[in-house]
Amino acid sequence: MSLTVTPLTPAVGAEVGNVDLKLLDTDEFARIERAWHRHSVLLFREQTLSDDDLLAFSRRLGELDPPPNQERGRISPPGYPDVYVVSNVLDEKGEPIGALGAGEATWHTDMSYLDLPPDASMLYALEIPATGGDTYFCGMQAAWAALPAALQAKLRGRRIKHDGTFNSGGYVRQGVTATDDPHRAPGAWHPAVCAHPITGVPALYLGRRRNSSIEGLSQAESDALLDELWDHATAPEFVYRHRWRLGDLVLWDNRSTMHRRDPFDNAARRVMHRTQIKGKWPPRAHVAAA
Ligand code: SIN
Repeated sequence: MSLTVTPLTPAVGAEVGNVDLKLLDTDEFARIERAWHRHSVLLFREQTLSDDDLLAFSRRLGELDPPPNQERGRISPPGYPDVYVVSNVLDEKGEPIGALGAGEATWHTDMSYLDLPPDASMLYALEIPATGGDTYFCGMQAAWAALPAALQAKLRGRRIKHDGTFNSGGYVRQGVTATDDPHRAPGAWHPAVCAHPITGVPALYLGRRRNSSIEGLSQAESDALLDELWDHATAPEFVYRHRWRLGDLVLWDNRSTMHRRDPFDNAARRVMHRTQIKGKWPPRAHVAAA
């Protein structure tokens, strides 16, 4: 049977069926890449991947990007520095084997606090709790398209600060001094509306809410507008909720989505392995057609 692509919501996400990511031929990979550019998030069920398989599939999308600096630095499985472990599990010494614990991970785009954020990330489910720990993705192209024209006009030509102090679990990154001042916080300024480098489709680009600021506005004006934009972008009509099954791999486009995760029972085990693909181009402002 040939590969199938079934949309998960009108705004974002598609499930790719009849495919084994270990055995992709050139034509299948090309179809996956096209579907990814169109839907921003792709779900592949029932995969059986070793870390080597995960890395091999990841490399087909581009050069690997090192994992993010988290509350305890970068945590990878032994011998796999390009794999990032997201987990609440402790090792035999009582140390976490991964990052983010069992709490909520708030909405964010991966590593957009860098000048060159990763193009893509993917998460592979190795152990999952019976309940909780669902991951949500919002489609920032659909969110931009649905913004009132006056708001779009207000945002064009402006940049937004993407904070690098805190990770999505609310932890301060290793080696960083905590601050709640957007202008002192480490991070990057990126255009508020970016063009997708392959398709040209515009997307709202918010990154993280904490320590964010819109260029050219007072902090009070910026906070009011950011709150409005965040409420809009994360409204249910732009969101796909993913309920994990073992063997799921979810690939997302960091340029056109944000994601968050529900908390789960810390007595349960959740182990996910993540890779990410280095950005090929820095985020570029979308210019409206004349
Ligand atoms: C992440 O932000 O990459 C983690 C998402 C998750 O744990 O589901």
